[in-house]
Amino acid sequence: MGLRIGDTAPDFTTETSTGPISFHDWIGNGWAYFFSHPADFTPVCTTEMGRTANLSAEFAARNCKPLGLSTDTAAAHLKWIADINDTQSADLQFPIVADPDHKVAQLYGMIHPSESVTAPVRSVFIIDPNKKIRLTMTYPMNVGRNFTEILRVIDALQLADAKSVATPADWQPGGDVIIPPSVDNEKAKGLFPQGWDEIRPYLRVLKL
Ligand code: BEZ
Repeated sequence: MGLRIGDTAPDFTTETSTGPISFHDWIGNGWAYFFSHPADFTPVCTTEMGRTANLSAEFAARNCKPLGLSTDTAAAHLKWIADINDTQSADLQFPIVADPDHKVAQLYGMIHPSESVTAPVRSVFIIDPNKKIRLTMTYPMNVGRNFTEILRVIDALQLADAKSVATPADWQPGGDVIIPPSVDNEKAKGLFPQGWDEIRPYLRVLKL
């Protein structure tokens, strides 16, 4: 059984492109976006690494640190980062885990043997300050991730934690939210004095 939402993200110590890290200590009191790549010097990965670097202000605004993983050495990562910066007009500062022996990739179930026994697929783990896994997504090797969605999910999770709400399909920041079933009307009156629109007893929508 792979890692699931609500599990504690397994801790590990590893070499990265910016030096050794201990994962939980590195996360600290913020959030982490941990994502894997099949290999260095591959085209889709190069665009994803550049996109992550170019979104660094967006991740920082969400108190969320990116951590990449690719199954090459730190020395190879450094050469690749120079290429990423060059081709993607980026200034990549976040660490990339060096995982030539697949230790971390195996720990996180990033190797899907029917796809490849040596290269990780494109896994995404969003991890909260309590080190709990809050979202997992897996993309195939030949499809680059949607970073608008990754940022949107972080926003939705942080809003859910702060305001005890859920978010509807295709929610965007500022949009209507939903009172989750775990909050009964009595409790909702205290949480949402502005009131809500009760479309059905189970479908209560409001603006924050
Ligand atoms: C890529 O990053 O471009 C890639 C890697 C492995 C398989 C297919 C594409």
